[in-house]
Amino acid sequence: MLENEQELPQFRQAVSSILRERRLFLRRWLAHPLRVAAMFPSSPALAELVAGQLPDPGERFILEVGAGTGAITRALLRLVPEERLILVELDEELCQWLKNRFPRATVLCGNAVDLPRLLPEARDGGSIAAIVSGIPIVQFPMAVKRAFVDSVFAMMGQDGLLLQYTYLPVSPLPCRRLGLDARRVGGVSDGAARLFLWRFTRRAGP
Ligand SMILES: C[S@@+](CC[C@H](N)C(=O)[O-])C[C@H]1O[C@@H](n2cnc3c(N)ncnc32)[C@H](O)[C@@H]1O
Repeated sequence: MLENEQELPQFRQAVSSILRERRLFLRRWLAHPLRVAAMFPSSPALAELVAGQLPDPGERFILEVGAGTGAITRALLRLVPEERLILVELDEELCQWLKNRFPRATVLCGNAVDLPRLLPEARDGGSIAAIVSGIPIVQFPMAVKRAFVDSVFAMMGQDGLLLQYTYLPVSPLPCRRLGLDARRVGGVSDGAARLFLWRFTRRAGP
């Protein structure tokens, strides 16, 4: 917090930046409540929980889908340089915000269920170490869930990891039907409700 008068301009700047981010997020939530699925950007506690679950990506990329205003993204920068972050966001205004905020990251404005088209070069590779998702996947029909899961695991190697945060205490993906192993790795309060972090890997064997 503020310790002396000299820090006041910096303090004002920091507070006004937080307010601008919150106002934008709230406005986009009012425009598309189901799609944005939260009234405020993710909390630092959730960002810490997510970052703590990610492996060292080495030379590979981290992909974040539904990056919003980048509250989780900031914590990912501890693990990879900005150049090795790929951010996908459906909302055009949020996309523009992300482009300004993370100018060296690859920011793709589009639907995460369309990843093979948005990111054709990563389609069959192991160039992505892990995927962090904040999209409201539980709302998607089964065929869309399956297509999303198949495309994200095709982009990662055998050790691919999908982290999904959700308000659901039960798995937001039907694991057995989708050939996944799932573990709930923690939960944090976002003020109004509890958010859970789910960790998905491909099930080994047939
Ligand atoms: C819960 S919010 C993520 C909040 C983000 N962690 C933050 O702090 O700003 C979910 C985000 O996913 C985006 N989204 C929803 N459906 C999407 C889709 N199909 N593809 C890409 N982004 C999507 C929304 O626009 C919203 O920004």
